[in-house]
Amino acid sequence: MSIQNNLLRSDQAKTPENRSIIEFLNFSISIDGVSVLKNIDLTIQAGELTIVYGPRGAGKSVLLRSLLRLNKEIYDNVDRDGELMINGKSVTAYDKKTLRRLITYVEPSFVEALDHLKFGEFINLVLSEKQVALDEFSSELDRLGILKLLRRELQTPLREFYTMEKIMILLFAAIVRKSSIIVLDCILDHVDDETLVPVIKELSTLKEDRVVILSTRHKNRFLPLADVFVIMKDGKIEYKGAPRELILKR
Ligand SMILES: Nc1ncnc2c1ncn2[C@@H]1O[C@H](COP(=O)(O)OP(=O)(O)OP(=O)(O)O)[C@@H](O)[C@H]1O
Ligand SMILES: [Mg+2]
Repeated sequence: MSIQNNLLRSDQAKTPENRSIIEFLNFSISIDGVSVLKNIDLTIQAGELTIVYGPRGAGKSVLLRSLLRLNKEIYDNVDRDGELMINGKSVTAYDKKTLRRLITYVEPSFVEALDHLKFGEFINLVLSEKQVALDEFSSELDRLGILKLLRRELQTPLREFYTMEKIMILLFAAIVRKSSIIVLDCILDHVDDETLVPVIKELSTLKEDRVVILSTRHKNRFLPLADVFVIMKDGKIEYKGAPRELILKR
């Protein structure tokens, strides 16, 4: 495989077609008869960085995976109640392929799985899926610091890349796929400040015309970065709104 093979022309615009909105309406999920998400009412929209905070087992991943109907693939016995709408349409009315194009969902095990690929292989996969050329994305590649990497080595296994580089490559994939919803499930919990700052800056750019959701187990570190902060505990939402109120209370 070569990058050159993927230098196909395309007229496709780089930005997603429309500004997305997600609405959980009295949404509940039970797994094996145990209630895991309880009457969730939450609206998430483009233009705001939404950060979902909660301790282990709070229900963050079950909540975020429900956007792609992934829970049914992981658990045998999933029951749901209430409604989950994406862009005004029930999530159950979308086919899986469309959901996966619409939403980029990244969790720690996916970041680890990347380690088995070479940099060039991953870039080729991303480009061939959408039949687009790398040079259409030169400004994004530059902004994400990937141009520098490309000059370096396509044969390098991704496990040798810094975490920040891997995250930027994943965000690049989301841009190429024209996902209008980007969900990062606890993947920034263990990065240092030098990584977090540029990643948050990039997310601020991406959120302008996309829904961007970040989940975390660390409240104090992420609270000041959010436009909308959501606190989950035991499958319920304990707080949703601007972080300001919570910061003032501290
Ligand atoms: N394998 C499982 N079988 C049954 N119930 C499960 C299973 N895994 C998780 N759950 C239930 O789902 C709840 C929510 O889990 P979830 O993975 O969404 O939490 P989380 O907030 O993502 O936690 P973490 O921060 O550890 O990723 C758990 O408290 C548990 O009750
Ligand atoms: Mg989780």
